[in-house]
Amino acid sequence: MKLCMIGTGYVGLVSGVCFADLGNEVTCVDKDINKINLLKRGKIPIYEPGLSELVTKNYKNKRLNFSTDLKKSVKESDIIFICVGTPTKKGGSSADLSQIFNVAKEISLSINKFKIIITKSTVPVTTGDEIEKILSKRNNRKKFSVVSNPEFLREGEAIRDFIYPDRVVIGSNNKKAGKILKNLYSPLISKGASYLQTSRRAAELIKYASNAFLATKITFINEIANLCEKTGISVEDISIGMGLDKRIGSRFLRAGPAYGGSCFPKDTKAIISTADKFKTNLSVIKSVIKSNENRSKILLDRIYQILNRKVKNKKITFLGVTFKANTDDMRDSSSLKMIPSLSKKGAIITYYDPTGHKKEFVKLKNVTNKTSIREAVQGADLVIIHTEWNDFKSLNFKNLVKGKKFTIYDMRNIYSSKKISDQGFKYYSVGK
Ligand code: UGA
Repeated sequence: MKLCMIGTGYVGLVSGVCFADLGNEVTCVDKDINKINLLKRGKIPIYEPGLSELVTKNYKNKRLNFSTDLKKSVKESDIIFICVGTPTKKGGSSADLSQIFNVAKEISLSINKFKIIITKSTVPVTTGDEIEKILSKRNNRKKFSVVSNPEFLREGEAIRDFIYPDRVVIGSNNKKAGKILKNLYSPLISKGASYLQTSRRAAELIKYASNAFLATKITFINEIANLCEKTGISVEDISIGMGLDKRIGSRFLRAGPAYGGSCFPKDTKAIISTADKFKTNLSVIKSVIKSNENRSKILLDRIYQILNRKVKNKKITFLGVTFKANTDDMRDSSSLKMIPSLSKKGAIITYYDPTGHKKEFVKLKNVTNKTSIREAVQGADLVIIHTEWNDFKSLNFKNLVKGKKFTIYDMRNIYSSKKISDQGFKYYSVGK
C-alpha cells in the first residue's frame, strides 16, 4: 500500500519507518527541509534505539522516501496519516490543533481519488468531525474517509511497541476504510495484537483515557509510596501484591519521581479541557495532575532531609536527567524542577546523562555536565539516580569512588538497600 505520513516527529517517523519495514511504500513528509535532508542522509533527528538502522535499510531498498512536497505525496498515496504535533495551547490547557487543521486544508486540495485520512496524532474528541468538515468543503464525501487510529508507542520502546502492540484501535464508521486498515495492520494482528474497530470519537477518547489512566496508576502508587516511607513498608511489596491481582496488573506501578514526558502532562490537561467543553467534571484526573505537580516538592524535601537540611555547597550528582531512560527527551522531566531548586539553594550540581549535555541547565549557577559516570560522582556528597538506564543498573560504587563515600538516593529503586549498605554507602530509595 502507498502511505503518506505527514509530520516526521516522533509518531510519524517511527510509524512510517515501521510500516515501510512491513512492506508498504511510505513517504514521510515534513515542511522542515533541513530535517528531510538529514533523513535522506540517514541522520535521525530524534533519539530512539533501533530507528536509525531501520531508516537506512528501508531508504536503501526504496520502500521509504522523504519529501517536503505534501500535495504530491498525498496525491500519490492511498492512506494519509496526520502525525503533526498537538501541544498544549500557550497560556491554556487545551490542545493546540492549528497544525492539524492546516494540514487538513492542504490535503483537501490534493484529493484526486479515494483517500483514507487518519489522525495518528493525539487529538481531542470531535477533531475528526472538524477535519471531515474541512475536507468536504472542496471534496465529495465519497472521495475520502476520516479515521482515528491513535498510537500507543512509548519513547525508547517505540519500535517494539509498534511491532508488538497490545491493540490496534481503528475509529471509523466507514466499512470500506475499516477493511483496508485491518488489512494494513494484518501482519501485527496475526502476531497477536487485538484489533478493535470503534466509532471515530471513541477511538479519539480511548487514547486520552488510556494516558490519563496510566498517569493515574503511577500517581496512585507514588502516593502509596509516601505512606510506605512513613510506615516502614516497602512500596515494591505493595506493587507486587497489588499487581498479582489480574484486575489491577503490575505494569506502571513503579513508584518514582513525578511522571513527565511529552504525553502524560499534556494529555491529562487536554482531556480535562475537552470535558469542560462538554460540562463534565473529571475530578480524578484533576487531582492526579495536582498530585503529580506536587511530587517534585516531596522528593526535594527528602533530599533536604537526607542532607540534614544543609544544602549550601553540598555536591549533588544526578545520574540521568531526562524524563525517563532510553530517551534524550527533557520535556516535563522532574529534573527541570529539582535541579534549579537545588542550585538556587546553593548546591553544587554535576550531572551525567547517556544522551549528553542539556541546554536546559546552561544558565543555572553551579550546574555542570560530565561525560562519564566516574567523573560525575567524584567528590559527591549525594548521588541521585534519577532515571533507570541500564548504564546505572550494575554500578560498583566502591570501585567508582576514589575519596570519600557518598550517600545514594535511588529514585527508581534499582538497587537493594542491603547490597549498597554492604559496600559502605548510605542508601535511600523511594517508598521504603
Ligand atoms: C506514553 C504512553 O505510555 C504511550 O502508550 C503513549 O503512546 C505515549 O505516552 C504518547 O501518548 O505518545 P511515554 O511518554 O513515552 O509514553 O513514556 P512512558 O513510558 O509511558 O512514561 C511516562 C512517565 O511515567 C515517565 O516519566 C516514567 O518515568 C513514568 N513511569 C512510568 C513511572 O513513574 N512509573 C511507571 O511504572 C511507569
